[in-house]
Amino acid sequence: MFYNKFFKKQTVPKTVAERMDKIKSSVIPRHVAIIMDGNGRWAKKRSLPRVAGHHEGMKVVRNITILANDLGIETLTMFAFSTENWKRPKSEVDFLMNLPEEFLKIYLPELVEKNVKVQMIGDRTQIPKHTLRAVDKAIHDTKNNNGLILNFALNYGSRAEIIHAVKEIAHDLKDGKILEEHISEELFSNYLMTKHLPDPDLLIRTSGEIRLSNFMLWQLAYTEFCFTDVLWPDFDEDEFLKAIEQYQKRSRRFGGI
Ligand code: FPP
Repeated sequence: MFYNKFFKKQTVPKTVAERMDKIKSSVIPRHVAIIMDGNGRWAKKRSLPRVAGHHEGMKVVRNITILANDLGIETLTMFAFSTENWKRPKSEVDFLMNLPEEFLKIYLPELVEKNVKVQMIGDRTQIPKHTLRAVDKAIHDTKNNNGLILNFALNYGSRAEIIHAVKEIAHDLKDGKILEEHISEELFSNYLMTKHLPDPDLLIRTSGEIRLSNFMLWQLAYTEFCFTDVLWPDFDEDEFLKAIEQYQKRSRRFGGI
């Protein structure tokens, strides 16, 4: 606080560093998941092709990753391509499938240096080989890191993931690997692609859309949601810190009182 010439109390705006210190002194969400939306609209507002929005969005992925790592968040899951995104024009799909490669070409050295561990969830079968090659190299090069897990959801769809889990469980039942009485929420979670991760504590969706779009439907059961009108390419440090500050004000009861 300080006092201006009329002796009125004023709040001095906090710097990013001060806000980060305050956030770190409270409960940090272990896992933050983000639906990065609004790239197309960002580009349209500037009379640019849609892919220019995706390209700008790629830089934001880097900035938010570094910030999340600095805050001590354990996992950041980024919805980069959904199983429904194949419906887009081929040129846009191709561009989106090139982005992980470009992203990693530019930023992988920094991710390695900052102790970030790259991982991926999603159906690998349809993803182009060159994209998988880049992602697998990043997974390999960062496998011994133990900082933030940057988890790309690539060709990911939650219903498909659940059906896949059900089939695997049916298979294991038939083979006698598990018994019906073993089936529990915990066992089911262990058949999902996120089995090695805690459920997200916070979900952020940008661009004013208020829906889940087939993203982590099982895992988001008790997650706190933060919807913002900001378009993904405009989502900056301030917006991310605001989302975390909002999360820290929530009272999570998980069905209790
Ligand atoms: C949705 O916006 C966004 C996507 C389908 C792609 C998101 C991808 C990125 C932000 C870049 C990913 C970067 C890496 C490194 C993989 P939209 O196109 O649906 O926007 P609109 O609703 O305004 O049209």
